[in-house]
Amino acid sequence: MICDTHAHLDDKQFAMDRETVIQRARTAGISTIINIGHTEASCKDAVNLASRYSFIYATVGIHPHDAKDCTEKTWELLLKLSQNPKVVAWGEIGLDYFRDLSPRDIQRRVFIRQLELANEARLPVVIHNRDAHGDILEVIKKHLPEAGGVFHSYSGSWEMAKELLRLGFYLSFSGPLTYKNARHTLEVAANVPEDRFVVETDCPYLTPEPNRGKRNEPSYVREVVAKIAEIKGLPLEKVAQLSSENAKRLFGLAK
Ligand code: NI
Repeated sequence: MICDTHAHLDDKQFAMDRETVIQRARTAGISTIINIGHTEASCKDAVNLASRYSFIYATVGIHPHDAKDCTEKTWELLLKLSQNPKVVAWGEIGLDYFRDLSPRDIQRRVFIRQLELANEARLPVVIHNRDAHGDILEVIKKHLPEAGGVFHSYSGSWEMAKELLRLGFYLSFSGPLTYKNARHTLEVAANVPEDRFVVETDCPYLTPEPNRGKRNEPSYVREVVAKIAEIKGLPLEKVAQLSSENAKRLFGLAK
């Protein structure tokens, strides 16, 4: 029983075989999938997908890449979608200073707005952070999400992780944990408390070893679980159970 807490199954890379990919995940013991919205269109698609499968849930939010295109109409749409009982979080939201596809001041304004909207919708948040550690910390300390949240595909230092854990956040591990250069992330995975981590694929991106380079899919989240088990010296089934219990608590999923 494993929960993939961050998938993009609505992506066009799954257009030809989405159903097969979902069935393969079930066969591989993936009990729950959270499908993440990142644009207006993908939020609608995520909610539609979740309504068709009992074990798939959705989130709604606008990625920092698209912050520049947000209007009041965007927030009306997302608030409406968020009332669907299958919507379990607001995200992915945050700051991306690596690709800088939206001006940074707009990214910050839209991030803060969505932290407020998440509170209004009483949902936890899914945070994307790329090369924006300082600003992310400054913003979330001032606008602490009331229902908590998770840093998706966490790749920062243990120092920053400790601060996020103190603030009540969960950390999510993904494919890069299995890569050769994962030194910092290995340290975080070794030290993260057993009740504060979850796992994800971020599929179709960030494919774990040994399939790195291919399209990612939810069944591959087992590789991330196996790596954490190795690092923490725990049985794989124990890590699967912990990560799935943590996901249920974080997203308020039915037992
Ligand atoms: Ni994502």
